[in-house]
Amino acid sequence: MGRKRAKSLDKRQRIALYQGDNNKIVSKIKSNSVDAVIIDPNYGINSKKIDLEEWLETLLVKDDYVRGGTGFNGNKWDADLPRLTHFEQLYRDLKPGGFLACFASALNEHYVKMTIESVGFKIKEPIMWIRTNGTFARTRNTGGGADNLRILNEPIIIAQKPLNEKNKKSKKYQISKNKSPLGGPAGNLVYEEVADVIKSLGVAQNSGYKLPPFIIEQKPVNEKEYGLDLVNENARRRTVISKNIISGANKHDTVKPISLIRYLVRLLTKENAIVLDTFMGSGTCALACLLENRRFIGVELENDYFNISKVRTHTIYHRLIFQENKKVSLDELRWHLDGLMFIKQVAKELKTSSEKMNLIEQMIGAVKKKIK
Ligand SMILES: C[S@@+](CC[C@H](N)C(=O)[O-])C[C@H]1O[C@@H](n2cnc3c(N)ncnc32)[C@H](O)[C@@H]1O
Repeated sequence: MGRKRAKSLDKRQRIALYQGDNNKIVSKIKSNSVDAVIIDPNYGINSKKIDLEEWLETLLVKDDYVRGGTGFNGNKWDADLPRLTHFEQLYRDLKPGGFLACFASALNEHYVKMTIESVGFKIKEPIMWIRTNGTFARTRNTGGGADNLRILNEPIIIAQKPLNEKNKKSKKYQISKNKSPLGGPAGNLVYEEVADVIKSLGVAQNSGYKLPPFIIEQKPVNEKEYGLDLVNENARRRTVISKNIISGANKHDTVKPISLIRYLVRLLTKENAIVLDTFMGSGTCALACLLENRRFIGVELENDYFNISKVRTHTIYHRLIFQENKKVSLDELRWHLDGLMFIKQVAKELKTSSEKMNLIEQMIGAVKKKIK
């Protein structure tokens, strides 16, 4: 007997956020209902060696390869490669023709790509994100040691669920044209902060050299806090949204630039499309979808990260959707009211200023008025 599946997103609903294990939650999403999946999963960079034979055997029997251990910054969730069974679920949830964009470390990209391909996806040309601030020398997968190399590129694997007979001629499922800021099709490189890149390429700024790829600004230092301004005044305290932090309210280690995710959203989907992110972290993809007028389903395992996402999403939702008086269903208003009540609770715990508390009360009042 098949399990009764929940509807993915009601037509009148813009956003749904879930906390829990992504495989469990995604199994409830209706098959063939999502337009794109954009995920930034565990990179699986771990001092434990990947046993190639074992990995291949596991792939052939369509199971998950588990090494255990810890990943980046000691995070347990980052220890293993993303699970094959999760890609199977994502494949099932996507509409035929829908795209998957999956961040990976260049060190492990090949494992992730083969896993994605093995569940039925068609692999497309990847997008490469070139960073100017670099990251760190990474621990090898070979069982120890670090490479003394700054890592300046992060591949974004692009794959597509094959089109079916019904939609094989549809233009809806094509990488969008004319997305390059210079006109014409976008290139598959995304540079962070053009001036530095030009410098590092040794190309004079006035040489007429045209960069074909998409360019994003380097992520501002405080971008992580975007959407947390109502609650983060006393962020040094231990709170429901940020335990053990030294400064700043968003303690997530691997927050992606919003402009990069917005670019992927624009490239792979049309307005009002449903985007699924099952590794939501602190909610960057939710914010990108709000800013780009797409609908969004997000899943996050860790309570603290989920709470950060919830605060950021409802704060930005209020400013973009509610205050601009966009059409909002009653269900969505109730969902938003719940989010604002949560923000109020967090703000109270953080002892934010009376000015901010008043602002939150006003936001709550405005939503209640609409619900009546
Ligand atoms: C690389 S981070 C994503 C960061 C995100 N792009 C951002 O900008 O904030 C991956 C996230 O996936 C979550 N995660 C890992 N395994 C998961 C699982 N089985 N189910 C749901 N979330 C999971 C982790 O807790 C982590 O927050």
